[in-house]
Amino acid sequence: MGNEAPKRAAGYAAADLVEPGTLVGLGTGSTVRFAMERLAERIRGGGLSCVGVPTSYQTAIRARALGIPLASLNDAPHLAIAIDGADQVDPELRLIKGRGAALTREKCVAAAADQLVIVVDEDKLTERLSEKVPIEVLPFACALVMDRLAQMGGSGRIREGTAKDGPVVTDNGGLVIDWSFGQIEDPAGLETSIERIPGVVAAGIFSGFEKKTKVIVGSDAGYRVLTR
Ligand code: A5P
Repeated sequence: MGNEAPKRAAGYAAADLVEPGTLVGLGTGSTVRFAMERLAERIRGGGLSCVGVPTSYQTAIRARALGIPLASLNDAPHLAIAIDGADQVDPELRLIKGRGAALTREKCVAAAADQLVIVVDEDKLTERLSEKVPIEVLPFACALVMDRLAQMGGSGRIREGTAKDGPVVTDNGGLVIDWSFGQIEDPAGLETSIERIPGVVAAGIFSGFEKKTKVIVGSDAGYRVLTR
């Protein structure tokens, strides 16, 4: 485990933005964990009542253990705020997400929220998005999607489990293709092109949320906030 101070600083700052009596989207991953820790602390202290909408089994399990009340997105389709991590953030605040294979639910929850708060450390900031793009697909259409992606350029593969033989199966029963396009010139255009392929459930490029996005960048010294 590396230095967790930047993740903690970002996560705690995000949790402190949550207003009492609100619905909060809870993203997935190691940085959001700290936001949940702080939310739970505020709830226990009596200063906060809120209900979380989790984006994965991992987050739901952690939230329950911390005593954060939960609802599903079907119960609560309009959220005041969503807190989530990211794999890469560009200067326009466009994102690559999905290292943890939770990208589809994360995209739904981001869309449902008035405000999207992204918690990262400095290493996630980049001038241009270039990470492999996680793409959730229906298992039925996996080969078709791989063919279409190959026509678009780049290369990739179906994500394999590390503590399981065979492919990673998402919380939705999908598979994940990690596809490298190199430096991404037009994130919004690429996101649309990928999501137009039949069988694609969601692409891990998040563009279109920039105006409601706040990125909290944690460091050993504290944190800074990026907005558009
Ligand atoms: C989950 O699928 C991802 O989108 C995560 O939100 C993202 O990978 C950030 O995770 P960390 O905060 O653990 O880096």
